[in-house]
Amino acid sequence: MLSYVSDIHNCNVVELPKIHNPAGNITIVQNGADLPFDVKRIYYLYDVPGGSERGGHAHKNLYQLIVAASGSFDVIIDDGQQKKIIQLNRPNFGLMVIPGIWREIVNFSSGAICFVLASQKYSEEDYIRGYEDFLAYKMQ
Ligand code: TYD
Repeated sequence: MLSYVSDIHNCNVVELPKIHNPAGNITIVQNGADLPFDVKRIYYLYDVPGGSERGGHAHKNLYQLIVAASGSFDVIIDDGQQKKIIQLNRPNFGLMVIPGIWREIVNFSSGAICFVLASQKYSEEDYIRGYEDFLAYKMQ
């Protein structure tokens, strides 16, 4: 599959195609065109109460594109050495999160929708849920 070095500098914000229309815009994501992986799963977080924090884990093999389909939130990405905070607030921009990156999602605006395109189906075995476990995994 893809081989990126698992550091935060390889987690980029990508601009997605947008068709402007006074009656409402369209953004398109197509396998083979707009993403460096094929989408096997889509999920979205919504009705997130103010002050909630999501994420708090890393993945071993999963690639994800995280989009603020509505509203805004901040994604904190951490490769065990460096951290960066990225605010997502436009539906035609997404953050690519590669394997081996700890992420937390915070500061959800009211009505925010966190829309996620993922390279694999759900697998609990792919998660690293403890930060100490994550640091140990990065040292391997
Ligand atoms: P999790 O990924 O930990 O949520 P977040 O990082 O947004 O806080 O998932 C929360 C729960 O939902 C967990 O019990 C696993 C389950 N889940 C699925 O069953 N399938 C999925 O595709 C996802 C993303 C989560």
